[in-house]
Amino acid sequence: MIKKGIILSGGMGTRMSPLTKAVNKQLLPIYDKPLIFYPLSILMLAKIKDILIIVNKGQLNQYRKILPDGKNLGINITYKEQFSPKGLPDAFLLGEKFIGKDNVALILGDNFFYGQNLTKQLLNSIKLKKGAKIILHKVNKPELYGVAKIDKKNKVISIKEKPKKFLSDLAITGLYFFDNNVIKFAKQLKPSKRKELEIVDLINKYKKNKKLIADLIGRGGAWLDTGSIEDFYKTSSFVSAIENRQGFKIACLEEISLNNGWIKKRDLNKAIKFYGNCEYSNYLKKL
Ligand code: DAU
Repeated sequence: MIKKGIILSGGMGTRMSPLTKAVNKQLLPIYDKPLIFYPLSILMLAKIKDILIIVNKGQLNQYRKILPDGKNLGINITYKEQFSPKGLPDAFLLGEKFIGKDNVALILGDNFFYGQNLTKQLLNSIKLKKGAKIILHKVNKPELYGVAKIDKKNKVISIKEKPKKFLSDLAITGLYFFDNNVIKFAKQLKPSKRKELEIVDLINKYKKNKKLIADLIGRGGAWLDTGSIEDFYKTSSFVSAIENRQGFKIACLEEISLNNGWIKKRDLNKAIKFYGNCEYSNYLKKL
């Protein structure tokens, strides 16, 4: 059972400068909430309460203003600073103490997931005892992502980071589940040509040991990556369309906590006071 999760929320955000000169990318808005709410909501939907958020050096205070320590959500949030973007597997080196002897989920701070069967899929994924699990989704431009080729039984045949030559149209999303060997494997990695530790190299270690499984998000589910300004607008439009049509909010953290039984209705008053007079508070009032 996976009870711990890491959100990797650092990075330079250079592709989005000047927006990201003073503010971390994951604190910029996706429609009506900061981007970080979305990956955090995914861990919470997976019933993960113990969460480490890795942020850029010097940006801790920005994060603490909006997500102090998680008590208000009935969860436990701790922070760690990353001094330079050394690559995704750095999460397990920085998070070694946090992980301890447990298994762990990793979600990238800029990943957005939505869909009917998602919670079911998450609750199934946290049952992982041994090995690693990656989540795949079909995309139009696989060359922009880590990509996996699978056989008819969903067995992973090969994986590659941003392949120039077509390998498969299944992108490896930024949500991963690992057993405790992840720390040992991360320590064995060497930086790639672009001088980063690569997540695909880490996943490949599991594949070599025949300990890698893959799960697919079908076409009824959405996975959006918010790497560029254009992606921010597209994802914002998506959230706006769904929320305004249904009257439900995507990634309302307090609502998830309430549904999970981690906070009580009276705790919502504190949240309403915290956020102030805004649309988000009005939604909490309705809960
Ligand atoms: O989004 C899924 C993709 O994420 C995967 O398909 C790729 O295999 C994986 O390498 C990654 O690709 P990206 O090119 O999107 O990674 P990027 O460098 O943009 O970083 C993703 C997020 O992680 C971003 O929010 C910044 C954060 N980050 C990144 C690095 C390298 C950190 O916090 N620290 C880091 O050292």
